[in-house]
Amino acid sequence: MSTFISELPKVELHLHIEGTLEPEMVFALARRNGITLDYPDESALKAAYRFEDLQSFLDVYYQGMQVLLTEQDFFDLTWAYLRRAHAERVRHVEIFFDPQAHTGRGVPLAVVVGGIGRALEQARRQWGLTSRLIMSFLRHLSQESAFDTLHHAEPFRQQLSGIGLDSAEKGNPPTKFTQVYAAAREQGYRLVAHAGEEGPASYIRDALDVLEVERIDHGVAAITDTPLMARLAQERIPLTVCPLSNLKLKVVETMAEHPMLQLLHAGLCVTVNSDDPAYFGGYMNANYQALQQGLGAGNEELLQLALNGVEACWLSPEEKAVLT
Ligand code: ADE
Ligand code: ZN
Repeated sequence: MSTFISELPKVELHLHIEGTLEPEMVFALARRNGITLDYPDESALKAAYRFEDLQSFLDVYYQGMQVLLTEQDFFDLTWAYLRRAHAERVRHVEIFFDPQAHTGRGVPLAVVVGGIGRALEQARRQWGLTSRLIMSFLRHLSQESAFDTLHHAEPFRQQLSGIGLDSAEKGNPPTKFTQVYAAAREQGYRLVAHAGEEGPASYIRDALDVLEVERIDHGVAAITDTPLMARLAQERIPLTVCPLSNLKLKVVETMAEHPMLQLLHAGLCVTVNSDDPAYFGGYMNANYQALQQGLGAGNEELLQLALNGVEACWLSPEEKAVLT
């Protein structure tokens, strides 16, 4: 690991907290909660972390998170991530969680938000590591289910900065969620959505024009649409790109083919993020390293990517000034 990367102050804007569940913690929580897993040991579970596409990952991801039951489980999960982030000089994080993946199993939202929120607060006090929390709707479920979730989240409104949209992209376009995004906007939530990961560039346009999001998660399909790229550059709409995720889910065949630097040099506000680091082979530094070693990114480019993260984050201008 280059010292330039390990010492670079970083901001992470695309991180699913359930995607930080390491195999060791899956087994520890299963033991604590009296759950029998389908895998005999950690290495057998790790062997299942070979993915053909987004759906093959999601199947393992939703299964893994079934060990999360109590407020302490969500605290321990989040705390383990924050410790790693802090060790990697991550100074600010904007974290997704999937409420429906837990309420659908009978785990109350208060348990989920309580545990995650307690860890975020401890990291702020202990290290000055700041954060925002984003509730992400599962796009393979109905808009009605997203509306139910939005209503259930009302008591936690102060702890939730924004809403997002994730899970299986193909066949679940942004337009499926037009009304629930309008309702969330009315309630003052900030809006983001996964778009253009496996889905087409038109989903990025729809997320911007129909859902009115301010930031696109992934967005790498923009590389196929020159007018869209020009617009994203002109409006400085941030893309939270996840290099190792794109490689593991076969969005790109090799890191050398990743469009990150083309997007950067076209003037887009592209940022580096880890998505689901327990599943994709690395946290923030590993993602920067993949760009350096696999794509030939130089220190100046890596620095610009890190500065884009500061530009794209939801801290106040005063808080941002402290980071740079
Ligand atoms: N949920 C967790 N990670 C995801 C990803 N990369 N794309 C869509 N949904 C997800
Ligand atoms: Zn994601």
